[in-house]
Amino acid sequence: MAGEVKTITVVGAGTMGHGIAELAAIAGFKVYLADINIDILNNALQRIRWSLEKLAEKGRIRESVETVMSRITPIVSVRDGEYSEDLAKALSESDFMIEAIPEKLELKQQLFAFADKHAKETAILASNTSSLPITEIAAATSRPEKVVGMHFFNPPVLMPLVEVVKGEKTSEETVAATVDLAKKMGKQTVVVKKDVPGFIVNRILGRLMESACLLVERGGYTVVQVDATAKYLLGLPMGVFELADYSGIDVFYYVFEAMSRRGFRSAKCSIFEEKFKAGEYGVKAGKGIYSYP
Ligand code: CAA
Repeated sequence: MAGEVKTITVVGAGTMGHGIAELAAIAGFKVYLADINIDILNNALQRIRWSLEKLAEKGRIRESVETVMSRITPIVSVRDGEYSEDLAKALSESDFMIEAIPEKLELKQQLFAFADKHAKETAILASNTSSLPITEIAAATSRPEKVVGMHFFNPPVLMPLVEVVKGEKTSEETVAATVDLAKKMGKQTVVVKKDVPGFIVNRILGRLMESACLLVERGGYTVVQVDATAKYLLGLPMGVFELADYSGIDVFYYVFEAMSRRGFRSAKCSIFEEKFKAGEYGVKAGKGIYSYP
């Protein structure tokens, strides 16, 4: 029986992890935020503070920035190449883990095996993966019925949707508890009933990006024409190429590569591949499809 969630450990403090920790703290949960070194954690805390100040300016949080920040405890998750005792202790106190580490199955399986050993028996172990099978992540644990996908979108504090993904053995109770947690974080949910590559959203985004890319590469349209059509005429919040730059060309590259390994076919189009190979990942690199001086 899943108990009431009071404490959450978020593992991974990057683009997604810091935003998820922020959301959890805004919702009133005690949060442990874990990553491999203190610099990453300090950077994450700075980003959370910046975001909370923005939300406070607009009256979108009820409490002070300091009150929300005080719920977050940063912890270093790895020492001398091993998961740390601090992480084990955080997990032993937590009712829910949300993993947001790099999209590598082996890494995630190692973390889930560790979490399985140290987390409360009742705790749910969730992955924010956008492309890897929940069933295979769950196979690293002795509690696959309590392993679930909880897929947020970038930026987590502003995007309203969470995909709750059922692995082959995920129980209905785990799905219900995860939906409930997402709602407490102010999100709308869609339950992805089958653990298919890309779930729902990235299957749609995959086709959108493929089409945009082909329109430029084979259709003779410019990137700006395609983006302007999507944004100003179709009414999407961002152009398709703009979105790739915003979330990271590397992020989408890995997501679509993982989906393709699992049988999601798409036409070959080289624009994103060339940018990826050149390290031009978008906004964070100062250059992607567009330039960010
Ligand atoms: N926290 C708080 N405030 C933030 C913020 C954050 N993390 N990020 C931006 N803001 C603020 C901005 O600073 C700005 O504030 P001011 O008005 O004071 O200047 C305000 O929000 C509005 O932002 P913008 O002016 O930049 O523009 P916007 O109205 O377009 O909103 C957006 C930004 C919400 C990101 C919107 O453009 C959008 O919805 N874009 C699409 C994003 C999307 O599709 N994400 C999903 C990507 S796919 C993914 O994540 C999954 C995967 O598996 C790869």
